[in-house]
Amino acid sequence: MCGILGYIGNQKKTVDVLLQGLSRLEYRGYDSSGIAIIQNGKSKVFKSKGKLSKLKTKINKHSPKGSLGIGHTRWATHGDASQKNAHPHISGGTSVVHNGIIENYLDLKNELKKKGYKFYSDTDTEVIAHLIEDMSASGLDFEDAARAAFKKIEGSYAIAVISDKNPDKVIATRKFSPLILAIGDHENYLASDVPAILPFSRKVVYLEDGDVAVLERDNVRITDLDGNELKRKVQSINWDPISVEKCGYRHFMMKEIYEQPQAILDTMRGRFSEETGEIFLEGFDPAMFKDINRIVALACGTSYHASLIGKYMIEKIAKVSVEVDIASEFRYRNPIIDRKTLAIAVSQSGETADTSEALVEAKSRGAKTISITNVMMSKIARDSDRVIYTHAGPEIGVASTKAFTTQLIAFYLFAIYLGRIKKQITKKQAIEMIKDALSIPQLIQVVLKLDNQIKELAKEFFTYRNFLYLGRGINYPIAFEGALKLKEISYIHAEGYAAGEMKHGPIALIDEDMPIVLIAPGDGVSNKKILGNLQEVRARKGKVIFLTSDLSAPEIKGNVDKIIEVPDCPNLLSPIVSIVPLQLLAYHIATYKGTDVDQPRNLAKVVTVE
Ligand code: F6R
Repeated sequence: MCGILGYIGNQKKTVDVLLQGLSRLEYRGYDSSGIAIIQNGKSKVFKSKGKLSKLKTKINKHSPKGSLGIGHTRWATHGDASQKNAHPHISGGTSVVHNGIIENYLDLKNELKKKGYKFYSDTDTEVIAHLIEDMSASGLDFEDAARAAFKKIEGSYAIAVISDKNPDKVIATRKFSPLILAIGDHENYLASDVPAILPFSRKVVYLEDGDVAVLERDNVRITDLDGNELKRKVQSINWDPISVEKCGYRHFMMKEIYEQPQAILDTMRGRFSEETGEIFLEGFDPAMFKDINRIVALACGTSYHASLIGKYMIEKIAKVSVEVDIASEFRYRNPIIDRKTLAIAVSQSGETADTSEALVEAKSRGAKTISITNVMMSKIARDSDRVIYTHAGPEIGVASTKAFTTQLIAFYLFAIYLGRIKKQITKKQAIEMIKDALSIPQLIQVVLKLDNQIKELAKEFFTYRNFLYLGRGINYPIAFEGALKLKEISYIHAEGYAAGEMKHGPIALIDEDMPIVLIAPGDGVSNKKILGNLQEVRARKGKVIFLTSDLSAPEIKGNVDKIIEVPDCPNLLSPIVSIVPLQLLAYHIATYKGTDVDQPRNLAKVVTVE
């Protein structure tokens, strides 16, 4: 987590670039922030506890000038959220910002203390500033001192450094944490992520582990830790700068909920033929999947819920058995993997440490690997044999919405692809399935029209302290995801269960203070059974919000408090439609409660620590 930024150039006001860029990185962490700018050969450092707006207010009084600087927005790992622990950290004339964890910081700290360096914060980052200063004191110039310091640190990091002794360079490195360079005209940038620099440049270099980048106004060089020059490809980014603006929406989350029809279309675009039923996945070769007899999906949080649904899709369409693992558990339980196993890592950011490590573990045990991710060239994308990119565009709201529904469509396309390879579906069936998928954006548009109705519903329910979400069949993971959305942005306790589990424990919780969201789209067997759950809930006076596409069952009338009616939809795709009203419900409950929807407390968009 944490977002870092760097700028060097005379074309723009450094302070404006840093603050604008940081505001686009704030989703990565927001418990404190800071910048350092070199003005007349001296670093000026500003830091503030809390949101970036606090830092902005502070800086406005000073308006620092200078043509290079670094910035940081923090999600605390070592040391509490305080001004003292906010980055940049300074030693002499060296200022450092860092995203990640320095694992050997205690040893380094002790060594440096013995040499007389004083520590002012509780962070691991401060050792980097002192180390560089120490290397400079031994006679190395800024670049060599930085490289020598980087060689000594262990862990995961993306680092940017500036120095009063050489006020014409920003130096950066990375290992296991994301960092990109963006090339401008007589100016260059560094950032943790593409959205931060999108309005400034679309020419990007994805740094690799162990790369050291030296940014000057008219030049960018990349070396290894020994100073040997390296070549890295400059890539063009096709994300639209508008995609990182709120465009009139009050929150990014709402904008992203509304972007889902388009994001799904974009994820499908160019990947199917309606005539032949073929699925085209870039770089995929059917030979790779011929022998696969088992799949493990590895993911965390919302991506884990998408994988649970992916399991239903793949098992139904391709008839290959799928296990879904919480990534943080996978590598600690001696998983059984062989060459006929396919591991699918699912991650919006492509940088989640647990998922990334699980993928590496599966690979080391001989699995073939693919990933489903939204971020080009992210670590998970680079570490997998093949990638299915979701084309959701940048997701800024911390609560995942469009990333989830595009992951589902990516799973669906892959299931059809595999189903054809395994000869489990005919060409005609594949064509029908593609048609079904093409109907989804329109069905989501219908659900989005329920927005006002759901807002009214939220008004009646936002004061409750607990919620239960129940679903069955392919929609049981939607119970998990609906509950997760509610708890993360409204801080209301919510549990998701497979509806059949209710009588095995959770039923004890049900009384008139417990709203229950029953997720029952379609009219299949699952829903007949959910009607049974409805009776059980009602008998215990639970308040029922009933999500369905079929109001014909007599059991519904008089037994539910609120109905959310969604359009009928092919069963395998119904989770993509049924999650949308639950995203809206969580959003409106949170706004009634007045919580910070886009940046809920304690969370960060990208979790790069285990
Ligand atoms: C919830 C949410 C998180 C992420 C999880 C994995 O709304 O966003 O649960 O899904 O941290 O993140 P990725 O998908 O980036 O690996």
